[in-house]
Formats: sequence, structure tokens, C-alpha cells
Amino acid sequence: MPSCSIILPMLFALSCIPFANAIAEQKSSEKALREYYDLQEGQRLYVQYCRFCHGEQGKGKAFDVTPPPADLTSPAVQEKSDFELAKIIHGGERGTAMGAWQWALSEKEKQNVLQYIRWLGRSKGDTRSP
Ligand code: HEC
Repeated sequence: MPSCSIILPMLFALSCIPFANAIAEQKSSEKALREYYDLQEGQRLYVQYCRFCHGEQGKGKAFDVTPPPADLTSPAVQEKSDFELAKIIHGGERGTAMGAWQWALSEKEKQNVLQYIRWLGRSKGDTRSP
């Protein structure tokens, strides 16, 4: 018969599995919640700073300038990497109405607004709420 010194630690380890799962579940729901609030923040910033030119749904051309404000939901924009888009938001595009946001928005805010642009791309113009 195996000695108690093996069985007890094993029972203890088994009894911990539900706890470990509960903690993992809580961690992932915390992460989902954080992402949700980041997206809400991104929407708030977008409405405040970007909607004027890029439009409520991100479809662009809301403000009459040449070249026109980009359709942020278009494949041409959505196919760009996060890095490329973040760079444009940070530094603007020289010779266009797209200004640099590096002084107005923090790193975190630029990331949040970028995630909102991704959300606009996925939601196909449904702006109700992320
Ligand atoms: C005053 C008008 C204006 C505002 C406000 C504005 N943009 Fe733009 N944006 C433009 C224009 C015009 C272009 C297109 C430039 C071009 O054609 O090269 C552009 C381009 C972009 C692009 C690049 C699209 C591509 O084709 O690669 C991104 C990303 C972008 N804007 C994001 C934002 C975000 C995020 C905000 C708010 C923080 C914002 N813009 C605010 C006018 C604006």
C-alpha cells in the first residue's frame, strides 16, 4: 500500500485544480473587461478628435479637404499593421489635413483609438457601442 506521504500531497494537488481554474477564469474575464473599457475610451477619443474628419462610422470624407480624410474601414487602411497606423496617428501625414496627435494623446490613448479603428473596420459601420 502506498504510504500516506504520497497520497496526501496528491489529494491536496487535485483539490487545487478547481481553484486554479477559477483563478484563470477570473484573470481572463478581467482582461476582457479591461479590453472593453479600453475600447470604450478609444470610442470616446475618436468621437472627440477624429469623427470631425473621418466621420461617425470611420468612412472618411466627413470634412471637405484635399486629399480627403481616409476611409478608416477600407481594406487599404485595415490591411496596414498596428505599427504603421500608430505611426501615422502619432506623426500625422505631411502635406495633408491629417495632423500629428503625439502632443494631444498619450501612448495608451493612441493605442485605444487605434483599437477603436480596428473595431470600426470589423463592425462594418455599426457604431452603437463596441
Ligand atoms: C482635420 C481632419 C482630420 C482629423 C481631425 C483627423 N484626420 Fe486622420 N486623416 C485625415 C486626412 C485628410 C487623411 C488622409 C491623408 C492622405 O490621404 O494621405 C487622414 C488619414 C488618416 C490615417 C491613415 C489612413 C491610411 O490611408 O493609411 C489614419 C490611421 C488616421 N487618419 C487616423 C486618425 C485618427 C485616429 C484621428 C483622431 C485622433 C484622425 N485621423 C483625425 C484628416 C484628419
